[in-house]
Amino acid sequence: MKGVLLAGGTGSRLYPLTRITNKHLLPIYDKPMVAYAIEALVDSGITDIMVVTGGTHAGEFLRLLSNGHEYGVDRLSYAYQESAGGIADALSLAERFVGDDLAFVLLADNIFGQSISPTVEKFQQQKAGARIILAKVEEEEHLHHLGVPELTSDGKVKAIIEKPENPPSSYCVTGAYCYDPSVFQIIKTLVPSGRNELEITDVNNYYIKQDLMSYDVAEGFWGDAGESIDAYYTVNDHVRRFGVNKPAVRV
Ligand code: G1P
Repeated sequence: MKGVLLAGGTGSRLYPLTRITNKHLLPIYDKPMVAYAIEALVDSGITDIMVVTGGTHAGEFLRLLSNGHEYGVDRLSYAYQESAGGIADALSLAERFVGDDLAFVLLADNIFGQSISPTVEKFQQQKAGARIILAKVEEEEHLHHLGVPELTSDGKVKAIIEKPENPPSSYCVTGAYCYDPSVFQIIKTLVPSGRNELEITDVNNYYIKQDLMSYDVAEGFWGDAGESIDAYYTVNDHVRRFGVNKPAVRV
């Protein structure tokens, strides 16, 4: 399975911090944000990774990560997104890198308390379709800024609503997505959303309509450090106090 780490975007929700650097290079406790996402993939056995970034600070990723060997990455590839066209647009740049393989796509501002390896293992068995990680969100306010799944009474995802005014559940879709290689054909059918981006939620809804979507619920902490300044500090505080990417709880 290939890893695709998405580390582009303008980071406008963290202005003015992100005027002088890429959001994913900002510190989370004692490391730049992107290091936690690399660690999450490598700890799950994914060591062939492409980092997709963009903007004026893209070169700093090379200085930080180099060939990735220090982080346990076997082969680190880079792609450059010419304009901030959304998550699905960024993912499309990894088409040739992923080839016929499965892809674990991770937004580099998403931080998980527990290892993502159970999802990696389940998707390796699942082989086709898609698999996402949901997280329980206690405060409804956050859900207005995220993708939120509508669940059926038997616990299947019926649809995902992006940034809902009236959240249909108290779960969010995190930025961890497993896809089979057909994802790249799906992206080619997308049209830009109201915020002029190719939305990953449209990709996920495509799989849901084909009945090819599965999910796991994150054990323990999950945070999107790019959601707002408050979220950024909540994640910082959590990482400092408790640490993250802890071994999965096996039952
Ligand atoms: C993106 C996705 C959203 C998801 C979130 C997780 O939001 O569109 O569905 O819940 O990442 O971090 P964005 O950061 O693009 O606003």
